[in-house]
Order: sequence, then C-alpha cells, then structure tokens
Amino acid sequence: MENVRYEKRGHTGLITLDKAADLNALNAAFIQEINNALDQAEQDEDVYVLILTGTGKAFIAGADIAEMYEKDRAAIMEWSALGSGLNLRLENMKIPVIAAINGYALGGGLELALACDIRLASQSVKLGLPETSLGVICGAGGTQRLPRIVGEGMAKELIFTADVIDARQALNIGLVNRIVPAEDLMDAAFQIADAIGKNGPIAIRAAKKAIAFSNVSSIEEGCHFEREVFSRLFETEDQKIGMGGFLRKEKNVTFKNR
Ligand code: CAA
Repeated sequence: MENVRYEKRGHTGLITLDKAADLNALNAAFIQEINNALDQAEQDEDVYVLILTGTGKAFIAGADIAEMYEKDRAAIMEWSALGSGLNLRLENMKIPVIAAINGYALGGGLELALACDIRLASQSVKLGLPETSLGVICGAGGTQRLPRIVGEGMAKELIFTADVIDARQALNIGLVNRIVPAEDLMDAAFQIADAIGKNGPIAIRAAKKAIAFSNVSSIEEGCHFEREVFSRLFETEDQKIGMGGFLRKEKNVTFKNR
C-alpha cells in the first residue's frame, strides 16, 4: 500500500501521509516517498499551492525513533540530512505550502510543519518538540525555525520542557494560523488554497521569495530586494491582466501564469 498519496484539485496539489501503523514516523524510505510526491507537485506548472496532511490520529509523530536508535554520530549526521533537506526543500518551494495538521505533530513532524508557509490545526492536535525528553535535540531545523515563528522565549520553553501543547495554546503563541473542527480541516485548507490560487501565481511566488529574504537581510537590503522583485512583475502578462482588469472595472480576472 502506498504511504504517500499525491493528487491535484484545480490548481492545488494535495499530499496525504498515510502510514498509520507508526503514526507517519519519518524514516528514510518514507522521506523518499514524500520527496517523490513533491517532485510531482513541482513538475506541474499548473499547481499553484500545495497542501500537506496526514490521516488518522497523526500528522507525523516524529522522526522514526527505532531507525535512529542504534546510529552513531557519523551515521545520524548523514541520516538527519534527509529530514533537514526535506524541510529546506519545502521551505524553498516556489509555491506556498499549507500544513493541514490533523493530529500529533511531534518532533520531526512539527519541524516539517514549521517549514510550511501556513499551518492550520484541527481542534485535537498535539504539538511539540519532545526531543530533549529522548536525550537529544531536534535535527531537522526545529531550533532554527521555532524561535523565528513564536519568539525565542517561547521556543526555549517548549524545547527545554519538551511540553506537548494543544491547538488553543498553539494558536495563542502564533504557532498555527487558525483552529478548525476536525471535520472541516480539509475544506478550510482548500478554501485558503483557492483564495491564494485565484491571485496572480507569479506574484504569489514573488511574495514568498521576498518574505523569505526578510529572514536574512537588513530592512534596507530587504526593501531593495522587494523593489527588484516587484519591478520584474511588470514584465509579466499577469500584471497587465490584473491591473488592466481593475481599470476596466472587471469583477474577476483570470491570470495566465506568464
Ligand atoms: N518513531 C517510531 N515509532 C513511532 C513513533 C516514532 N516517532 N511514534 C509512534 N510510533 C509507533 C509506536 O511505536 C507504535 O508502534 P507499535 O504499534 O508497533 O508499538 C505506533 O506508532 C502507535 O503509537 P502508540 O501506540 O505510541 O500510540 P499512542 O496513541 O499511544 O501514542 C504518541 C501516540 C503520544 C504520539 C506516541 O506514539 C509517541 O509519544 N510517539 C513518539 C513521539 C516523539 O517522541 N516524537 C519525537 C521523535 S524524535 C524526532 O522527531 C526528532 C529529531 O529531529 C531527531
């Protein structure tokens, strides 16, 4: 049975993680399957937004502890490059990625969600970075991304205590964008994807790139970069379609992704 499914609805790609036996624990083979699904989304220029979700009670319950247990330093260094690489790939994808978190997102599971652009939580989620309770720390970007999202103090509290928090606490600290009833999670994810997908796709990709640059730049460098990216959009057909549509008082315009 496939553990990772990829499908497309309109301009949205959907990746569903479905390895219930171990709550989608991230091992090397599973990470490869996720990468294969990402290849499909990336190769399709008609996919403007991607949603990632899990089935059953877990989004991802973490990296596979059984696979990690016997590894020595060199082996774990090599192994952790898989998770780290996957999260960097997600973060750097040109299109927005929505994590529709359906249940446990722990350790490597939360690290993966942190690399997504938008996080939605179903009411019953449990989130945390419990690695210190296993005698280790995150190995796939958690110490780097969590403080940027929730601030250093809150990140330190979560990582040092290994506490697992619920949806309400996650929303309060800005770890998730919104909470939705479990039965509405996918509808909510597709609603956001559709709202993104009706805007200019080249503009959306430009916005993602410019926002990412804000993590590595001074405000002056960032504003310069933004103007560069902004001005390039005036070479696109979509800029004429969007602005022309406004000037002609058209209600809806259809962008062409060029
Ligand atoms: N690795 C390997 N197997 C896992 C797993 C993981 N991270 N999480 C769950 N499983 C397996 C369980 O071993 C169990 O397998 P068996 O049926 O063969 O015993 C199966 O999934 C179902 O899990 P539980 O019976 O434990 O389910 P539960 O509902 O009682 O508990 C849970 C759910 C609280 C999420 C619990 O499974 C749990 O605590 N999992 C581990 C969470 C964790 O510590 N994650 C961090 C791992 S380290 C990491 O991710 C990071 C890194 O960067 C190094």
